[in-house]
Amino acid sequence: MQNFMQDIRKDFPALSQQINEKSLIYFDNAATTHKPKQVIDALTTYYEKFNANPHRGAHYLSIKSTEIYEDARETVRKFIHAKSSKEIIFTKNATESLNILAFSYAMNLVEEGDEIVVSILEHHSNLLPWQQVAKLKGATLKFLYLNKDGGIKDTEIESKITKKTKLVSITHMSNALGNINPIEKITTYAHQYGAKVILDGAQSVPHMTIDVGKLGIDFMVFSGHKMLAPMGIGVLYGKEALLKEMKPFLFGGNMIEYVYEDYASFAELPFKLEAGTQNVEGALGLMTAINYINEIGMEKIQAIEADLTSYALEKLTNLDEVVLYGSKNSKDRGAVISFNIKDVHPHDTASILDSYGVAVRAGHHCAQPLMRYLEIPATTRASFSFYNTKEEIDFFVESLKKVRRWLGYGS
Ligand SMILES: Cc1ncc(COP(=O)(O)O)c(C=O)c1O
Repeated sequence: MQNFMQDIRKDFPALSQQINEKSLIYFDNAATTHKPKQVIDALTTYYEKFNANPHRGAHYLSIKSTEIYEDARETVRKFIHAKSSKEIIFTKNATESLNILAFSYAMNLVEEGDEIVVSILEHHSNLLPWQQVAKLKGATLKFLYLNKDGGIKDTEIESKITKKTKLVSITHMSNALGNINPIEKITTYAHQYGAKVILDGAQSVPHMTIDVGKLGIDFMVFSGHKMLAPMGIGVLYGKEALLKEMKPFLFGGNMIEYVYEDYASFAELPFKLEAGTQNVEGALGLMTAINYINEIGMEKIQAIEADLTSYALEKLTNLDEVVLYGSKNSKDRGAVISFNIKDVHPHDTASILDSYGVAVRAGHHCAQPLMRYLEIPATTRASFSFYNTKEEIDFFVESLKKVRRWLGYGS
């Protein structure tokens, strides 16, 4: 394990930096992960050897770019166990994928008086598009609320998803609390009323094996940058029959079949939903990141991250001054821990930790309704990746113990 860890960490140049004259401890992986040199090198090679516009040219470089882009699509398909590469649409990020679903799919599905169901855990990216659809269509947005551990109550699922529900859009894993939601139960429940289910996989796809068929969902979104890939590449998965029904969101080059002065017909899936020149280097970066993850093995990644999370949870639970949010049971959560130190604003905690070289996130984590529901202004969030270590957690906990003293509280 020691050698494995040393080898892994050597792949991530950013991790060996000094920040504030201290070795960087990067615990902001839920915001974005660092990139292995395999991904960084792939991007350099792309621009040195292949750069060309895909799907458009008959020359070698364009054909090569097209191959790279379509290989990346097939790699994503296998990674999430989708049936067809036509079900994989490349986007900018999870946010763009959700907006495409809201404006190309939901706007044609939802009618006045219908209901859209989300949870109070949602990241703003999986809330604001539904607020817009509800407003524009005269529909109602309903929320699934939480038990005291941050889990979604069964009674909420059973009472809020009804025959009026047209869509359920729900996060797989909360970016703010780390809780993992009962997706199969929600999907089964929604489908019995004919409602469609969108899964926000931004926090789960990087950390667990995803089989879209087994989950039973209709659509899923995620971002490459949270799973070792560059920023600017994301994915929208959808069942082929549903994507086929969707009208394009963006119109222009690459997404057409025939164009006349006053009329155009559109290309087949997936191109119909990918207008304009695409982010080929981003797709290549995502493919390289997925290959890197597959080489380690998702089961191993999950085991390392679960071990780090339960280790950190136990250490933090032993600190009297720390208030923890979300499930106390590490089996119900991913590698995200939200907490506050009594009497200390999370921004102060994060700044003091930064002076020790420890990078954590403080704030509302783009989940203001959740913060309001929990009656707190913000939290401090430590989020781990498989490249983190227990020694880093020890240092983080020792640094945390100094925070109250720094602010003059004695202990
Ligand atoms: C659960 C969740 N959904 C959606 C997003 C939005 O991701 P992006 O900003 O990459 O579009 C995030 C980002 O933190 C997230 O954590």
